[in-house]
Amino acid sequence: MENLIVFGGKGGVGKSSISAATAVYLADQLKNKKILLISFDIAHNLSDLFDKKIGNDVTQITDNLFAIEPDPDKYAERYTGELAKKARILIKSSKVISMIPDLEVIITDSLQSKNIPLAMKNSLFFQSIIDAENPMADIGEKEMKYKGINQDDSTPIEDRKKIPAFDILVCDFPPTGNMIALFEVPQDNAQRSMKFSLRVMSSVQNSFNSIKKLTKWAKPAAWMAKGIIKDERNDDYKLDKEEKKNLAQDILDILHDMEQRSSRISSIIKGVGSLRLVSIAEKPSFEEVKRAKKMSEPYISIDSLHINRLIPENERGRSKYLDNLYGYQEKYQKLIHNEFSDLKIWESQLLDHPPIGYNGLMELAKNIYNDTPIADILNPLHRFLINPEANFDENPYQIKKIRKNWENA
Ligand SMILES: Nc1ncnc2c1ncn2[C@@H]1O[C@H](COP(=O)(O)OP(=O)(O)O)[C@@H](O)[C@H]1O
Ligand SMILES: [Mg+2]
Repeated sequence: MENLIVFGGKGGVGKSSISAATAVYLADQLKNKKILLISFDIAHNLSDLFDKKIGNDVTQITDNLFAIEPDPDKYAERYTGELAKKARILIKSSKVISMIPDLEVIITDSLQSKNIPLAMKNSLFFQSIIDAENPMADIGEKEMKYKGINQDDSTPIEDRKKIPAFDILVCDFPPTGNMIALFEVPQDNAQRSMKFSLRVMSSVQNSFNSIKKLTKWAKPAAWMAKGIIKDERNDDYKLDKEEKKNLAQDILDILHDMEQRSSRISSIIKGVGSLRLVSIAEKPSFEEVKRAKKMSEPYISIDSLHINRLIPENERGRSKYLDNLYGYQEKYQKLIHNEFSDLKIWESQLLDHPPIGYNGLMELAKNIYNDTPIADILNPLHRFLINPEANFDENPYQIKKIRKNWENA
């Protein structure tokens, strides 16, 4: 991936329109680049914008432009389903834990898709889509066959085209609070939940070991023999030592992968990511982009700001009403320029009809970008873009050590 462009700002200011317009324009100007437009807003509206059904599958719009409105549940499941399944088996196989059913419930519940916060699910999707060389590989290239331009539902899956690797991702982000959550999760929540499960597992392991050392009678097997407790383990979950070890190993591997992915993704976002704030020339939206800039600075480079829906100059003097509005907008337009003098400021006018459909979006794009060279649209501040190799040895949670504990257990 060469560029990751995300649009953020208050609801209703034109984020979706400008994201789509930008994607359409880039696709038109860069015929040899594959561009994917992604909507991260739960109130998806790409389908309305393009007047074409766009859902959980990558949908082709033009030769090199694709769009998707992901269903976060699907992707969360993919990330956590296997982990939850293995953790459950391991937990159920442990004599100690079979005595504390609550623990199992906590672990399995916390990993279930329906209990993962939407922001985290979205973020898991965000992660999978920007990950690796082929961003779609992780979400299952085979399952994600899209319908080609001249294909319909009756086209057998095998005959449909495969998801290409994308060169440029354009993302329509939800308003600020949820946008920050999208950045935070790869860096924070995913690791936090992973750390949590690791900690649960290793503390259970440790306490089990120390109990074993301290007292012989503490061995659940001895308790069971004496009839003090009942062995409630299901036969399916009686694993031998080797099986347990392998299962624990698998779980650690999955967690390790998640961790590597998280750091890789954070580096991609930092390296080739560009956040563009969208505002209108009004107080609430101005305040929001100020906040959004501060809050997202730790995660991504912010290189431009759009002031959308400006009343065209030639509308001046037509009515007192419009002139008042114009004066108000002018005030905030100046304030925005002053506040964000370090950013490239794009301006677009209030069009006399909503910018929808391919042509409408193209019109908005031309209104925004005029004759700006594509290189400046892609990288307005001429930042040095790095798509860094993540440092895969970096391992803040000492997984190797925990793994050793498992092996010794
Ligand atoms: N420059 C513009 N001129 C006219 N209408 C616009 C313009 N930009 C956006 N709109 C309209 O404003 C409404 C909100 O835009 P939208 O892109 O959905 O905002 P957001 O995604 O930020 O909520 C939509 O009806 C859209 O068609
Ligand atoms: Mg929107």
